Amino acid sequence: MKKILICLGISLSCAFTIKAQDFVEIENSECFDCHNDPEIQEDATDSTQVLFVDEEKFTNSIHGDLYCTECHTDVTDTDHEEDLAKVKCANCHEDSEEDIMASVHGRLAMQEYPEDLPKCSTCHGTHYIAEVADTSSWMSSVNQVKVCKQCHGDASMIKRHNIAAESPIENYIKDVHGKLAASGDENAAACSNCHGGHKMLPHTDPNSTINRLNLATTCGECHEEQTEQYLISKHAKSLQEGSLDAPACNDCHLEHHIISKNDPMSPTATVNVSLQICSPCHASERLMNRYGLLTDRVTSYENSYHGLALRGGKATVANCGSCHGVHAVLPESDPRSMINPNNLAATCGECHPNASENFANSKIHLIAGTQEMNVLSLVEQVYIWLIFIVIGFMLVHNSLDFYIKSKHIRSQRYYGR
Ligand code: HEC
Ligand code: HEC
Ligand code: HEC
Ligand code: HEC
Ligand code: HEC
Ligand code: HEC
Ligand code: HEC
Ligand code: HEC
Ligand code: HEC
Ligand code: HEC
Ligand code: HEC
Repeated sequence: MKKILICLGISLSCAFTIKAQDFVEIENSECFDCHNDPEIQEDATDSTQVLFVDEEKFTNSIHGDLYCTECHTDVTDTDHEEDLAKVKCANCHEDSEEDIMASVHGRLAMQEYPEDLPKCSTCHGTHYIAEVADTSSWMSSVNQVKVCKQCHGDASMIKRHNIAAESPIENYIKDVHGKLAASGDENAAACSNCHGGHKMLPHTDPNSTINRLNLATTCGECHEEQTEQYLISKHAKSLQEGSLDAPACNDCHLEHHIISKNDPMSPTATVNVSLQICSPCHASERLMNRYGLLTDRVTSYENSYHGLALRGGKATVANCGSCHGVHAVLPESDPRSMINPNNLAATCGECHPNASENFANSKIHLIAGTQEMNVLSLVEQVYIWLIFIVIGFMLVHNSLDFYIKSKHIRSQRYYGR
């Protein structure tokens, strides 16, 4: 069997190698004589088949220059058989098939429900395939979710295969990336920008684009600035050194409900950062003990002027991220750290113009048992007692007042008759 090697483009660097199968050259116009006629459908023995092929749309597709018979290789005559073999895209796109077969989807071929495996045509279509970069492609950022939804929005399929994600479609269409895609913006992150194109793998696989250790590279493709900052952080270093407790991008942003910090419902909104993002880890005794870190960071913050003012609804005060940063979080000893003694004046100065070095060095995380903390808790105790005493006296005063006045009214009624 003769195999022709066609290399794409004139340049030496072709995206993929096309190895075409043997086929008989029959002009497409001969096939269109029958197949471009809508009435052909009446001749179908299998009514689920769509025998009509739109000549104009096919000619404008990425495969418009191919002979029909290059895909339908068993058609050797215009007077062809009825039962033809399935088209093998891999005859020309061998790499694509290899990647699919190595992916989480390909594994389905070997499992109990091989019919749940998405085929090339499930994701790309058949006759009117466009270049992926073209917004008319089924796999372009703006259309992709509709295809994945067929299966990943199908509760019975999710259950049958025990798929890990909780409603990825429902959440994605409401998040920044999904909304951007729906608005027709090609820069939006589609499913495949995070999951990879053909080689999608579960997050537990170390080669997966969504594995904790690879996520910075995946998101960093589009969010360079934040990723650069994150990569110098203690959190990123800790992950790289093999401790899986430190946060990756999705621990703070989630993955399918990513919303802007300007949305008050976002965990990254200024008022939520301390409580919803940093606290679950930094107040966990089990976790902090493992790294020799103090667990009182959260309570000491909550009892500080900033923490108290935040609870009182003042959103402009400092949250954990205002002093530590959110991406380039570093220990005090690191000269690049926002809490390094040399940088503190600048850090506080963001909100306290003219913050002196003395001011900046005032203790933020007051620790139980220290002198400052004792003074603080003394003031708190006195304050609480004062409240009881004031309210108590008020109650006594009001009751007496009521008693005297009601007595007065009664005597007035008596004598007034
Ligand atoms: C004389 C009209 C005519 C011409 C010319 C013709 N076809 Fe068909 N083709 C049909 C009809 C009718 C059917 C439906 C057969 C059925 O369902 O029983 C069909 C079915 C098909 C099918 C589906 C077969 C299947 O497995 O169910 C393919 C693929 C196909 N044609 C490709 C081609 C190609 C490629 C050419 C050009 C080389 C071509 N046809 C030329 C009439 C034609
Ligand atoms: C890029 C490959 C490709 C080319 C080129 C191509 N087809 Fe197809 N065609 C397919 C695929 C894929 C199917 C779906 C069935 C299958 O997998 O075999 C299909 C199915 C069909 C069917 C049956 C429809 C159905 O619902 O099963 C007809 C008829 C048909 N093709 C006609 C044509 C004609 C006519 C041309 C040329 C104008 C053509 N095809 C060119 C890939 C191709
Ligand atoms: C689960 C959906 C899915 C399936 C199944 C699928 N693809 Fe794709 N394909 C994609 C996505 C998404 C992209 C875009 C990838 C990217 O941007 O890196 C793509 C890109 C491509 C490209 C262009 C880029 C490249 O990798 O060369 C070709 C060609 C292609 N697919 C062919 C195929 C063939 C052939 C098959 C069947 C063996 C197939 N695809 C199966 C989703 C799919
Ligand atoms: C006879 C060889 C051949 C067959 C069979 C074939 N293709 Fe292609 N395909 C090509 C060629 C050639 C190109 C590139 C055309 C170009 O870049 O101008 C291409 C391009 C593509 C692209 C666009 C890649 C990009 O850069 O975005 C996709 C997607 C694709 N094919 C999918 C398929 C699918 C799905 C099938 C099976 C239904 C299939 N192809 C069958 C030859 C083939
Ligand atoms: C035809 C149905 C079908 C389509 C279409 C489909 N998938 Fe899947 N997908 C599955 C099934 C079934 C599994 C479960 C495989 C397993 O666990 O063995 C799966 C698994 C996955 C997984 C891994 C889940 C896990 O728990 O590890 C990801 C990620 C994924 N698909 C993403 C996508 C994306 C993105 C698209 C769209 C480009 C898509 N899929 C299109 C059926 C589909
Ligand atoms: C911004 C990146 C991003 C986008 C866009 C995205 N995902 Fe995900 N997805 C992830 C991450 C990260 C995980 C892993 C979560 C974890 O570690 O538990 C995930 C998990 C999944 C899983 C479970 C797989 C597993 O191994 O846990 C499925 C299924 C899935 N996503 C499908 C989709 C589909 C379908 C789309 C498009 C509608 C989509 N995702 C869009 C990042 C993304
Ligand atoms: C394909 C590119 C791409 C990928 C990959 C991607 N994003 Fe995005 N993301 C965007 C675009 C475009 C926007 C909207 C424009 C903007 O504000 O930057 C956006 C917006 C955001 C926003 C909100 C920004 C704002 O100001 O509203 C966050 C947070 C975000 N992405 C986080 C992530 C995370 C985390 C990942 C990885 C799990 C990720 N993104 C992967 C392109 C991407
Ligand atoms: C420790 C938690 C944390 C981690 C880890 C993290 N982020 Fe963020 N990120 C935040 C917070 C909080 C904000 C809002 C900060 C602010 O107010 O400016 C933010 C802001 C952003 C923004 C701008 C969003 C907006 O709404 O304006 C993008 C984009 C972003 N992060 C991407 C990433 C990427 C990509 C990664 C991984 C490389 C990552 N983040 C890791 C907490 C985190
Ligand atoms: C998913 C859990 C998690 C989240 C969320 C998280 N951290 Fe951490 N953080 C850790 C772990 C674990 C370490 C210790 C890493 C190590 O030492 O290897 C750490 C280390 C630190 C350190 C360095 C301490 C030192 O002396 O080395 C600072 C400062 C810090 N985190 C602040 C924050 C801030 C501020 C936030 C919120 C914006 C935050 N963290 C969110 C788990 C988390
Ligand atoms: C107003 C600024 C400010 C706020 C708000 C703040 N911190 Fe701190 N944090 C500091 C300073 C300054 C230090 C270093 C001096 C010290 O240990 O008291 C520090 C130390 C730490 C350390 C130990 C780091 C090291 O290298 O020793 C951790 C962990 C930490 N803070 C976590 C948090 C968490 C979690 C929050 C929010 C609940 C928070 N911080 C809120 C300023 C702040
Ligand atoms: C994001 C802005 C922001 C940052 C950064 C910040 N603060 Fe504040 N701080 C405030 C606001 C707003 C108040 C007023 C709270 C109120 O209304 O009770 C305040 C109040 C205070 C107070 C109470 C007395 C006063 O001046 O009102 C002290 C002391 C203080 N901050 C110290 C610091 C120190 C030290 C740092 C640096 C380690 C720092 N702050 C960083 C916003 C910030």
